[in-house]
Amino acid sequence: MKKKILITGGAGFIGSHVIRLFVNKYPEYQIVNLDTLTYAGNLENLKDIDSKPNYTFVKGDITNLEFVTELFKDFQFDGVLHLAAESHVDRSISDPLAFITTNIVGTVNLLNAAKEIWKDNMEDKRFYHISTDEVYGSLGEIGKFLETTPYDPRSPYSASKASSDHLVRAYFHTYNMPVVLSNCSNNYGSNQFPEKLIPLVINNIKNSKPLPIYGKGENVRDWLFVEDHALAIDMIYHKGKTGETYNIGGNNEWTNIDLVRKLCDIMDKKLNQEIGTSQKLITFVKDRAGHDLRYAIDATKIKNELGWEPSIQFEEGFEQTIDWYLENTNWLENILSGDYEKYYEQQYEKR
Ligand code: NAD
Ligand code: TYD
Repeated sequence: MKKKILITGGAGFIGSHVIRLFVNKYPEYQIVNLDTLTYAGNLENLKDIDSKPNYTFVKGDITNLEFVTELFKDFQFDGVLHLAAESHVDRSISDPLAFITTNIVGTVNLLNAAKEIWKDNMEDKRFYHISTDEVYGSLGEIGKFLETTPYDPRSPYSASKASSDHLVRAYFHTYNMPVVLSNCSNNYGSNQFPEKLIPLVINNIKNSKPLPIYGKGENVRDWLFVEDHALAIDMIYHKGKTGETYNIGGNNEWTNIDLVRKLCDIMDKKLNQEIGTSQKLITFVKDRAGHDLRYAIDATKIKNELGWEPSIQFEEGFEQTIDWYLENTNWLENILSGDYEKYYEQQYEKR
């Protein structure tokens, strides 16, 4: 019988890359994508694989315990990769409660449902919780986050993810739940919702709109190509040691202003504009409240223990990403018009 794997948040940015990888690479698995399709969930991200026989989409909310419990009973999952989350720091500042509900309560609902169906036999089962480097807080000019770095979350988003990480580890210690976790740095790539820095800047350059840089643009992020993150997730799911945490990063630090300037220059070339045209759109705006200065991951553990390292050089991945947004204007337009939200009723409700 095929192993049944639940992937939550599969209609989102990273989740869609993980689903594509698993559906194509593992025909021996039945992959179930559970996603409630918030504003960040877009089934168009998966239209190339959504009719594959080993893929099933279920629309549902992880905060609904009754629904989640029934789903686990029906499918009897062998493994869970949990990516569903509210993920945008700025939204967490204006609406923390949505983050508490989805990221904390939703995670506990999944843990409880898995515990219930696995209670008699946890062998060969796995609950993989995907998290962020933001739980470690903010670095100064030197140093990197290790798996042993104490948690120090500083935004409602990172505090909610930190809380969910602690709960996953608590279920390992208390109930012997076969968990594994990873904490990753900022991802870039195709299918990212255009409220995040890179797709937002690409879209604004295309439309000659201001490019908002928070504060002085001196904050540093460690950028990783999303497909490399998906490969790390595959490796951790299959080879990671139960109870362990793995940091995943790009070893690729950029200040926001340098990254945006680079993006502007590449866009000028692609749009056949004079170099410097897009940089004129850069506009320094009020800083994000509590803006973490610097994130940087030390990914030695995953490299030494599992043999993972990023496979795509930043120059290549960045160029590929920019080309994707320029070539997939429909994807972006459907988001901006709201049409992407109709994909579910158009494609699924008639099935
Ligand atoms: P995203 O916002 O693009 O996607 C999140 C998905 O979860 C969406 O499809 C949304 O519809 C779904 N979802 C939200 N609430 C739900 C609920 N209550 N029930 C069911 N589905 C729900 O996020 P992303 O950037 O793809 O991030 C995925 C995961 O990876 C998150 O857990 C995030 O914390 C983590 N992460 C993200 C990054 C990054 O750079 N984007 C870096 C490290 C870790
Ligand atoms: P973001 O993509 O929101 O990811 P995160 O906050 O999870 O790191 O932002 C990346 C960086 O870019 C972060 O330091 C905030 C900054 N930023 C801007 O300067 N302007 C913007 O319009 C956005 C969305 C982000």
